Amino acid sequence: MGRVEGKVAFVTGAARGQGRSHAIRLAEEGADIIAIDICEQIDTVPFPMATPADLEQTVKEVEALDRRIIATQADVRDYAAVKSAVEAGVAEFGRLDIVSANAGIAGGNTPGWETEEQAWQNTIDVNLTGVWHTAKAAIPHLIAGGNGGSIILTSSAAGLKAMQNIVDYVSAKHGVVGLMRTLALELAPYNIRVNSVHPTVVNTPMIQNDWTAGLFRPDLENPTIEDAHDVFRSLNALPILWVEPVDISNAVLWLASDEARYVTGFTLPVDAGFGVK
Ligand SMILES: NC(=O)c1ccc[n+]([C@@H]2O[C@H](COP(=O)([O-])OP(=O)(O)OC[C@H]3O[C@@H](n4cnc5c(N)ncnc54)[C@H](O)[C@@H]3O)[C@@H](O)[C@H]2O)c1
Repeated sequence: MGRVEGKVAFVTGAARGQGRSHAIRLAEEGADIIAIDICEQIDTVPFPMATPADLEQTVKEVEALDRRIIATQADVRDYAAVKSAVEAGVAEFGRLDIVSANAGIAGGNTPGWETEEQAWQNTIDVNLTGVWHTAKAAIPHLIAGGNGGSIILTSSAAGLKAMQNIVDYVSAKHGVVGLMRTLALELAPYNIRVNSVHPTVVNTPMIQNDWTAGLFRPDLENPTIEDAHDVFRSLNALPILWVEPVDISNAVLWLASDEARYVTGFTLPVDAGFGVK
């Protein structure tokens, strides 16, 4: 038996990176997947976002595990689109048990008082309002199922600790903690657990790009991501450069599974000791 055998998981931002990894890891342990991703560029995001081909790759990898997946191009900022994607998935698979609100963006590289209005708005809209939309669309299905459930919100190590020059990101990710705690309290009577995960730097396309290199090496003119490696290492207490997507997926899987049946309202760091440094 898999650890989430027979369950259905809704994963946002599932086209690549951590979201794809969560979909695959949950499918490996027996879940069917409802996946969404915007698969389009948002103009204030300074690195390439996912494509429809990326989402198609996630579909192939989940199906290769003999699990079912329904993947839809949808923007978490658009509540109606999120709601209809969840409804279509639940209509097909007959239930919903697990929610991974993972979709997110990053951008900017200025002190907080110089952040552009539109960049601030886009980050709050995706990384906080989008997470709320995901929960809001899913919760009625979890309650109606009567089987409890597990909602895992992706925050960040920067959701528990300040980081300079990305005030919109840090603010949204701290906001996710308030959202998580409130929903944990409200949903406990239904046996629905709500937790957040807080990764340190994860080896995904959000990190593997020139913008991230510039954020972490403002002292260099045209830094490469390799130039930022020593800074990444210096963030972590453990002597590692970064974690892999599957390290976060394993935390999501644990929170989704019955092994964590009495864990709710918890901020789970997968941060190599970033938070204690
Ligand atoms: N990579 C890191 O170092 C790191 C660290 C801590 C937290 N996080 C968080 O982890 C989550 C996953 O990021 P990742 O590292 O896999 O990055 P990523 O850029 O590889 O993946 C993010 C995915 O979300 C999708 N997405 C973005 N905006 C969307 C929207 N409006 N609607 C639907 N889908 C949307 C993207 O298209 C992409 O497929 C994000 O919330 C991110 O903030 C990342």
